[in-house]
Amino acid sequence: MTLRVAIVGSGPAGIYTAEALTKQSAGPVEVDVLERLPTPYGLVRYGVAPDHTSIKSIAHYLRRVLEAPGVRFLGGVELGADLHVEDLLACYDAVVYCTGAMVDRQLGIPGEDLPGSVAATDFVNWYCGHPDAPDFTLDVAEVAVVGVGNVAVDVVRILAKTADELRATDIPEQVLTALAESRVKRIHMIGRRGAAHAKFTLKELRELGELLNADILTFPDEVAVEDLTDLSRQIRGNVDVLQSWSTRPPQDRPRRLEVRFWLRPVEILGVSRVEGIRLERTRLEDGRVVGTGEFETIPADMVLRSVGYRSVPLPGVPFSERSMTVPNEAGRVRDREYVAGWLKRGPTGVIGTNKSDAAETVRTLLAEVTPQPSRPTLDDLLAARGVRPVTYQDWLAIEAAEEKLARTLDRGEKVKLVGRAAMLDAFGGADRR
Ligand SMILES: Cc1cc2nc3c(=O)[nH]c(=O)nc-3n(C[C@H](O)[C@H](O)[C@H](O)COP(=O)(O)OP(=O)(O)OC[C@H]3O[C@@H](n4cnc5c(N)ncnc54)[C@H](O)[C@@H]3O)c2cc1C
Ligand SMILES: NC(=O)c1ccc[n+]([C@@H]2O[C@H](COP(=O)([O-])OP(=O)(O)OC[C@H]3O[C@@H](n4cnc5c(N)ncnc54)[C@H](OP(=O)(O)O)[C@@H]3O)[C@@H](O)[C@H]2O)c1
Repeated sequence: MTLRVAIVGSGPAGIYTAEALTKQSAGPVEVDVLERLPTPYGLVRYGVAPDHTSIKSIAHYLRRVLEAPGVRFLGGVELGADLHVEDLLACYDAVVYCTGAMVDRQLGIPGEDLPGSVAATDFVNWYCGHPDAPDFTLDVAEVAVVGVGNVAVDVVRILAKTADELRATDIPEQVLTALAESRVKRIHMIGRRGAAHAKFTLKELRELGELLNADILTFPDEVAVEDLTDLSRQIRGNVDVLQSWSTRPPQDRPRRLEVRFWLRPVEILGVSRVEGIRLERTRLEDGRVVGTGEFETIPADMVLRSVGYRSVPLPGVPFSERSMTVPNEAGRVRDREYVAGWLKRGPTGVIGTNKSDAAETVRTLLAEVTPQPSRPTLDDLLAARGVRPVTYQDWLAIEAAEEKLARTLDRGEKVKLVGRAAMLDAFGGADRR
């Protein structure tokens, strides 16, 4: 008998889960990958920076999974809106939730909601062309980026590069125009702990030192590290690079990037919009960050908060408000319900981390679930509700339209279409919800 599994979310976790299910040898399997957007690949499409083309090419691997026999992509279908957990449990032998972490974590300081205080999630969504992204203009001279993780590095790099440097990428045309008109002169990237505690990785950090359009600097006192002996090679590498920037002579480039440490934000300043950020110098006490009572204000027209992502609860699915994940044991949530990816373990880890994570979930699922005959089909249920999913063929038409747009604009391989309407138009689906 065929095992029928619904996977909710078509990011790396969802697709690696589909792959692990199709590659197992226990018996025949059919997998439906449901996705709220008309497009697959989650953060590979709407997170990985447009200039990281080699990382984005992982999509070529992921597409082979969606094209494998027994696997279907059903886009434009949202769990919690178009269908509910009970519907999935009625139609499938098992359900795997892989909906990632879609929203920003908050700083919890005064001024956070002022215009000009922006979550990195929104800014990333914008430059990646996510259909739900707000619009931005870069009519600002000074930007403070809070956080020293890889997302902060991505955001800083996109702000610092020229539009010409990004022309050959798939960055949406309207974003490229906004970047060409950017008035950004000075960018501050702010870490609340030291150089040895920063979360970014060495390869990504080094790229900032290679920016053609921006001088980069650090301050010797802030990047000093007393004892390097117990630190990993990766962290020592970060510290070396950050220290070398403290003595690097400026080249009079149009933009300047300052990487700051031991400063925690205490207030975003401004009356009707952001005018600056107030920071308190910090130190570590018993491994915890504490304030020293010494303050510094950095003028800023825009504050980009890049302090991590957060999962959102799915209606009818258990959720821990403390860990912001779905409680599970090796991927098992409840009878016939499973979880993988960022929703399972929190918003950390690179694309590849989701592969072993998904494999664990699939092992648990296969050990417990037995296929049942004669379940109703999801197709009938969706049709009865007037929901017509975006098929894999429809997605290929969106991709083809993006390739055509790139040729028309004389840009790289693809240029992203922005907005659901443009995507639905690409395959004649304008009448769909
Ligand atoms: C800005 C950014 C840049 C990154 N860059 C890199 C990089 O360069 N290299 C690297 O290795 N890693 C990178 N990562 C990490 C990597 O993207 C993640 O490890 C990975 O995407 C997590 O996979 P996931 O499937 O759990 O979540 P996601 O990739 O977020 O996929 C979740 C999917 O679920 C869908 N969904 C959500 N809710 C519903 C619902 N209710 N119904 C149906 N579908 C739903 C979403 O639309 C999405 O497509 C980056 C992360 C971020 C945030
Ligand atoms: N190229 C790539 O491979 C790539 C690109 C992008 C993302 N990713 C991955 O995606 C994951 C998410 O990245 P991320 O950058 O969003 O998260 P992250 O790596 O967890 O970094 C979050 C940063 O925010 C800081 N922070 C958290 N709360 C704060 C607060 N209240 N005040 C000030 N600073 C605060 C953290 O400092 P503390 O350490 O002090 O908490 C840390 O510097 C990571 O695993 C990352 O490696 C990979």
